[in-house]
Amino acid sequence: MDSVVDFSGDYIWNAVSTTVDGQGTHETQPHTDEEWHEFRRRAVLLVEAANLIAVPGRKVAHGDRTVEDKQPLDVTMIQQRLDTGHEQLVGFASALREVSLKLVDAADKRDLAAITDLGGTLDEVCESCHKVFWYPD
Ligand code: HEC
Repeated sequence: MDSVVDFSGDYIWNAVSTTVDGQGTHETQPHTDEEWHEFRRRAVLLVEAANLIAVPGRKVAHGDRTVEDKQPLDVTMIQQRLDTGHEQLVGFASALREVSLKLVDAADKRDLAAITDLGGTLDEVCESCHKVFWYPD
């Protein structure tokens, strides 16, 4: 999660964004071919991360700890949920793969409106899986 999924998601959310401050509105987006290529790479990383999450028996949390110090749930509890809910996990992983493939496509078309929409969907996909496997009841 920390090394691949969160890292790529943050890149994608930050790469196309609008911020408002005292100086006005600032639009951020990839401009050069190189920047677009980098954006595409992160979307592909999310596609492949979804495949890794779906591998049967794969430990999502590393060993007995997670990176975030304020983890909502103990790792053994997370693992228990993963072991008993594999089918549901695969469903959420598929949703992640689907939205990420659309992000790859939107990057190829340099479609900013689609990327903004898909960014919202991506956030929902992250949350829906976390609600079941990571957050306490
Ligand atoms: C298919 C299920 C699933 C999806 C989809 C998912 N996550 Fe997670 N995530 C988990 C589980 C399970 C954990 C708890 C285990 C762990 O920490 O690795 C977790 C933990 C995390 C953590 C804490 C990592 C740590 O080591 O402390 C972060 C950050 C995170 N997810 C970000 C994201 C983001 C951002 C997305 C969407 C782009 C996302 N996740 C999508 C299942 C998922």
